[in-house]
Amino acid sequence: MNVSKYFSEHIKSSMKHEPPGAWMPVVPEGCVRLSSGFPDTSLVPVNDLQQAVTRLLNEEKDLPLHYVGSPKIDQLQTWLLNRMNERDIHIKLEELLVTSGACQAIDLVARMLMDEETWIVVESPTYMEALEIFQNYTDRILTVPVDKNGILTEKLEEMLAKRNRENQPLPKVLYTIPTFQNPTGTTLSFKRRKHLIELATTYDFLIMEDDAYGELHFDEPVQTLKSMDQTGRVFYIGSLSKVVAPGMRIGWIAADQQWTETLFRFKKDLDHPFAQATMATYLAGVNWTAHLVNLQSLYQSKCGTLLNALSAHMPKHVTWTKPNGGYFVWLTIPGTDTADLLEKATEAGVSYIPGKHFYLKQEDGLDQMRLSFSAADENEIVEGVKRLAGVISSWGRS
Ligand SMILES: Cc1ncc(COP(=O)(O)O)c(C=O)c1O
Repeated sequence: MNVSKYFSEHIKSSMKHEPPGAWMPVVPEGCVRLSSGFPDTSLVPVNDLQQAVTRLLNEEKDLPLHYVGSPKIDQLQTWLLNRMNERDIHIKLEELLVTSGACQAIDLVARMLMDEETWIVVESPTYMEALEIFQNYTDRILTVPVDKNGILTEKLEEMLAKRNRENQPLPKVLYTIPTFQNPTGTTLSFKRRKHLIELATTYDFLIMEDDAYGELHFDEPVQTLKSMDQTGRVFYIGSLSKVVAPGMRIGWIAADQQWTETLFRFKKDLDHPFAQATMATYLAGVNWTAHLVNLQSLYQSKCGTLLNALSAHMPKHVTWTKPNGGYFVWLTIPGTDTADLLEKATEAGVSYIPGKHFYLKQEDGLDQMRLSFSAADENEIVEGVKRLAGVISSWGRS
C-alpha cells in the first residue's frame, strides 16, 4: 500500500528530510561512548527512585495510576516553581506548563508558532533534535554562528537589519541554548545576552531558551535569559533529564500565561501522572543543593579528564572548546572529514558524533565533532581520547 498518498501536505513536506536519529552512530560492544549525551550511570538515582515509587504506591495506592488523582502532581509544579524562583525566574503557577521532557516543550512551542511560512533563527551549530522538530514545521530557517561566547549577536543584528532594509520577512522566533550549549559546550556572555534581548524587542521576535544543562555549572550559576526578560518574549524550557533521569520525561515551559494557556489547549498527551507523581515524591526527599553539587563536581572532574587527555594526546592541529558546565566538548580537526573518520574510530573503539549533524546544511561542520564526557567513566574517557588521537594522527596517511 502506498501510504504516502494519504499523508497531509504538511507531513509530506517534512518527510523530505533525513529520518530522525540518522545521526546516532552504531556503537559496537566495547567501544568508548564519547557520542552519548546520557547522564553518568552512577548519577542516575535508581535506588532513590525505586524508594519513591514504593513510597508513592504505599501512600496513595492506585491514585497516581489514574488519569488524574495524585496530589503529588501539584507538588511537582510547586517544586519547579520554587526552583525557578530560586533561579531568579519569578513566575506564577499559571505560567508553568509541565511537559514530557524539553523535547515536547520545544515541539509544543514550535507547533504554536510555526507554519510553513514562518521564518525562524537557530544557532549554528545547534541541538540536532531541535532542528528535526523545527523542520517538521518550516524550512525557513536562518542560522547564526556560535563562537566561544555563544551566538554572535552582532551577526544576528546585521542579518536582521539587512532583512529589514530589503523588506524581507523577519524571523518570528529564535531558538538558543545559551548555557553550556549542545553541541559546543559554550556559554553566551552576559553582554551578548543583553544584546539578544534588545534585538528581540527591536525586531519583534520571540526567544526559546533551552536550558537543559543550566544547572550543571562548574563555577558560578549563569543568569538565564528568562530572568532578564522584561517583555514576556522568552519561553524558558527546562528539563530534569540531565540532572535526574531522561527516562522520567519531565520537562517544563515557563512563559507568560497567555502562552501557557494556549499551549495547554493542544497538549493532548494527558500528561504522565505516574512519572510526575514519582518525580515529586523523589524530589521531596532529596537535598537538591547537595544533589547538584555532587553532579557538578563529578562532571567537572570528567570534563577536566577529557580536556587533559586531549592536551596530552591530540595532534597539534586539533583544537577544542573549554566548557564551564554541561556535557560536551567541541573539536575542530582541520582537513579531516569527521563523518568519514567515524568508521575507523569505532573500529578502534571510540564513538563520537560528527559535526555536520548539528548544522542545517550538512556541508558545514565537516571537520568538527562532538565529544561527550557525561556517560563514559574517567578511565574510559582517557582510553577513548587515546584511541581517537591515534585514528586522527594516522588519518590521511593510510
Ligand atoms: C539542548 C537540549 N535540549 C533538550 C534535550 C532533551 O531533553 P529532554 O530529555 O528533557 O527532552 C537535550 C538532550 O540531549 C538537549 O541537549
